[in-house]
Amino acid sequence: MLGHTLSILFLAAAALAAPGPKIARCSVANKQMPMPAGQTQLVNPTAPLSFIGLGLGVQNYTCGSTGTFTSTGAVAELVDISCVDASRYTALTDMVWAVWQKAPKSISIQTITKSLSSVDRSFASSLILGQHYFIPNPITGVGINPKWDFTSASLKGHANAFVVGAKAGNVAAPSNPAANVDWLMLNSIQGDLASQIFRMETRGGQPPSSCTPGTPDISLKYVSQYWFFGGAFSQ
Ligand SMILES: *[C@@H]1O[C@H](CO)[C@@H](O)[C@H](O)[C@H]1NC(C)=O
Repeated sequence: MLGHTLSILFLAAAALAAPGPKIARCSVANKQMPMPAGQTQLVNPTAPLSFIGLGLGVQNYTCGSTGTFTSTGAVAELVDISCVDASRYTALTDMVWAVWQKAPKSISIQTITKSLSSVDRSFASSLILGQHYFIPNPITGVGINPKWDFTSASLKGHANAFVVGAKAGNVAAPSNPAANVDWLMLNSIQGDLASQIFRMETRGGQPPSSCTPGTPDISLKYVSQYWFFGGAFSQ
């Protein structure tokens, strides 16, 4: 009897403790990720959707000895579009890409994100979710892995509000794959922000198919949607 009472107490405590810190601006329950047809690499996750970010930044490459570019990482700023009507996602992605692509070199990613609200009122209450960058693989120390880090922005004060991902699937961008980087599925290897991350609706970022070894590294602008599933935090 006592055991039963204790287990009810523990269950009640667990239920109270269960929801993690929230940004608490809207529900993302009705948002549907744009899954490309006719492929098996990207699989719809079972974990619930947590955030949708519109990323704008650069993809960096170095020219290898075989005359092809390899990725040396990326840097991006993520604007929260979780609370924007999903019917506007494609148009907003195109608009942000147009602005970012045409911005002179002297204009930073941060300057663009600050000015988005003057370009489209969907961004009037926009919030910077966080930053995307690469770090040495934190488990093996071999190679670099992408990290999404909300600890300096929307989830300030939550030390584990980041996720380091490992690629689990990729497909060529459904439109203009020579210009637009692949769509990706990544699984978490560290952090509490998400269990899976998807890079979808990419614009730009794809390097030329060949290069001359010895030529300087390149940095190409890109925009993409990042969809976050699972994790200990939510909208
Ligand atoms: C990528 O290139 C930009 C310059 O365009 C630089 O600021 C950034 O640090 C580079 N990041 C990585 C991961 O190489």
